[in-house]
Amino acid sequence: MTERYTAAPMTWSVAGDELMTWGYDAQLPGRLLRATAGDLVEVTIDNQLPEATSIHWHGLAIANAMDGVPGVTQADIEPGAQFTYRFVVPDPGTYWFHPHHGLQLERGLYAPLIIDDPDEHVVAEADYVLVLDDWLDGTGTTPEEEYARIRTAGMEMGDMSDMDHNSMEMASSPLLGGDSGDARHPFHLINGRPLDDPATLDPLPRAGDRVRLRFINASADTAYRVAVGGHRLTITHTDGFPVEPIDVDAFLIGMGERYDVTLVVESGAWPIVALAEGKDQRAGTILRTSDTKPGRNVLFEATELDGVWLRYADLIAHERVRLEPPVDPISIDVALTGGMMKTDWGIDGRSYGEHLPIELEAGRWYSLNIANDTSMWHPIHLHGHTAQLGRAAGGVRKDTVNILPGVTTELVFRADNPGQWMLHCHNAYHLEAGMATVLRYGGDA
Ligand code: C2O
Ligand code: CU
Repeated sequence: MTERYTAAPMTWSVAGDELMTWGYDAQLPGRLLRATAGDLVEVTIDNQLPEATSIHWHGLAIANAMDGVPGVTQADIEPGAQFTYRFVVPDPGTYWFHPHHGLQLERGLYAPLIIDDPDEHVVAEADYVLVLDDWLDGTGTTPEEEYARIRTAGMEMGDMSDMDHNSMEMASSPLLGGDSGDARHPFHLINGRPLDDPATLDPLPRAGDRVRLRFINASADTAYRVAVGGHRLTITHTDGFPVEPIDVDAFLIGMGERYDVTLVVESGAWPIVALAEGKDQRAGTILRTSDTKPGRNVLFEATELDGVWLRYADLIAHERVRLEPPVDPISIDVALTGGMMKTDWGIDGRSYGEHLPIELEAGRWYSLNIANDTSMWHPIHLHGHTAQLGRAAGGVRKDTVNILPGVTTELVFRADNPGQWMLHCHNAYHLEAGMATVLRYGGDA
């Protein structure tokens, strides 16, 4: 399969405003890339941006040279230059791609990537992709300006007394263990559309159809609590990999995470609601069945948002994808460090650039014990591998995991894909500040 994407400045209309931003082929999200597991994928990226770029294939365990991290796995793709990524897609599932360059992801440079399973076990009459995004670019600010604002706000906060501090209004959420995010986003989008101009999933499903919804959180600084009015959800996959199906009312999705859910849709027009967790803002899309007339006003409310929500502890890997780690994988302790006041987010007290790479040996099993020593949650992403969450047999497999303050999370995996792989926070501003390191090993796994 051969595809071509052009990264370039573009305008995108949100709620009647023409916003200047950057994107792929003037679309938001970038056009869906779809292949089947085992396919050879060839994507040429034409860089028409005023700065260098790259593409990272988030969640795919592909050859290291195709992983898209400038300075680690490839050279920058300079303005005016092209680069062709060429790789075999190993695992089916819901993925996405985006640059690994500064704050470019916080613009419109992202697109969904669906790898179909030749041996699919989830039966659905309809299949939709929903990409969630917090949006600020072109609304009178840029990601770089917002980053500068966050740094200044952090410094001022550091200078304040405890009393001032307590009276500060912070975006906060019990589900996230405190501060939910630091950036200010005027809009939250699903598939490029804000709440007051929502899309309707197309083509319309029939009443009674089992539909599959694939959620991707492409945002920079926002976790979403997701629910569908009038329906319970069956969680079937996370981060591309299948889980033992589990029914919930709502789930939380951090930056970089993916969830596939199914539901049997009842006749009507239903709100799909993504609540920006701890931020009192939301995004929405309409799920309308073909027997229902358009135009009925859909309220983006859902009591399900406050119902039974999914916890990681509920997730079990589907037997098709269970790992069999040894009882005693080699433990490596990793600490998430720093804070907002100095914007010194880092790993083991160092920011990226001063990081000490974590050396592994090919073929061995590891447990990364990641301790969140900060006062804020972080969605931590490991490149090139899908790890088991925790040591217990049958643990769910993920590539991105939300780690709450004070919590230690174990990521268990086999070093079976040699190269240099990033481990980092998927909050775009925390990554920019340096919450990243590299795992590396050579040789044959
Ligand atoms: Cu989706 Cu290193 O990122
Ligand atoms: Cu973070």
